[in-house]
Amino acid sequence: MQPQPSGQPAAAPPLPRHVAIIMDGNGRWALGHGRARNTGHQSGLGPVRTVIEECVRRGIEALTLFAFSSENWARPADEVAGIMNLFCDALDRELPMLHANGVRLRFIGDLAALEARVRERAAEATAATAVNARLRLQLAVSYGGRQDIFAAARKLAARCVNGELDSNRLTVEDFAAGLALAGLPDPDLFIRTGGEQRISNFLLWNLAYAELYFTDTLWPDFSADDFELALQHFAGRQRRFGLTAEQLAS
Ligand code: IPE
Ligand code: IPE
Ligand code: MG
Repeated sequence: MQPQPSGQPAAAPPLPRHVAIIMDGNGRWALGHGRARNTGHQSGLGPVRTVIEECVRRGIEALTLFAFSSENWARPADEVAGIMNLFCDALDRELPMLHANGVRLRFIGDLAALEARVRERAAEATAATAVNARLRLQLAVSYGGRQDIFAAARKLAARCVNGELDSNRLTVEDFAAGLALAGLPDPDLFIRTGGEQRISNFLLWNLAYAELYFTDTLWPDFSADDFELALQHFAGRQRRFGLTAEQLAS
């Protein structure tokens, strides 16, 4: 940090516009406390509230949380059922908190794969918070990055076949318009808790230039201070987007 001339307030550290989080480690947290895996998922709700409130407080525009992957369907049936029950309870209970914080909630992923009761609550929560504008919150449920890209390719093909687009004049933007996060800035900061250093089929397209932050902290233990550490890591990075450091300085 450069010393500031006296009387000049220090410039605020750069803040990500969009944070994407793989909330991992619930199962290990539960086992470490001698409890069933699903109690770990339940205990993961507190940190979800914390990061939402921290994003709102700090003026971060968008937050995308990986809650359940396309591949998580293959987990034991009782764990999947527990997670689906948790979604229903949490959506019922947390709507006032979302409203109080001005959060606009959306779901990304294959919602058709969800039970009707989960899908209905997701649709209700989406409609009920559509007027809010302080934080755009995406919950990735039954989401896979490859599936997302494949769906975008299918949409593009359909738009070519129906004559809306000319296949010889396609742009990257035409393609990206079919992705789940179309219309949002790409995540600037990616956080994964739980110690694993992998993407696990999260936002494969959108994370192209995200700063990556991994922490061993298990998701149920993730606190406002841990989020602050991730933001400090982000603030210390030089984002070059393929340019040289000298180009950025000039
Ligand atoms: C992340 O925690 C939540 C989901 C994948 C639904 P895990 O359940 O993967 O926790 P670990 O990795 O087994 O500890
Ligand atoms: C990624 O975690 C998915 C979510 C956190 C929702 P996983 O626990 O499923 O990922 P892997 O299996 O360790 O790659
Ligand atoms: Mg895991």
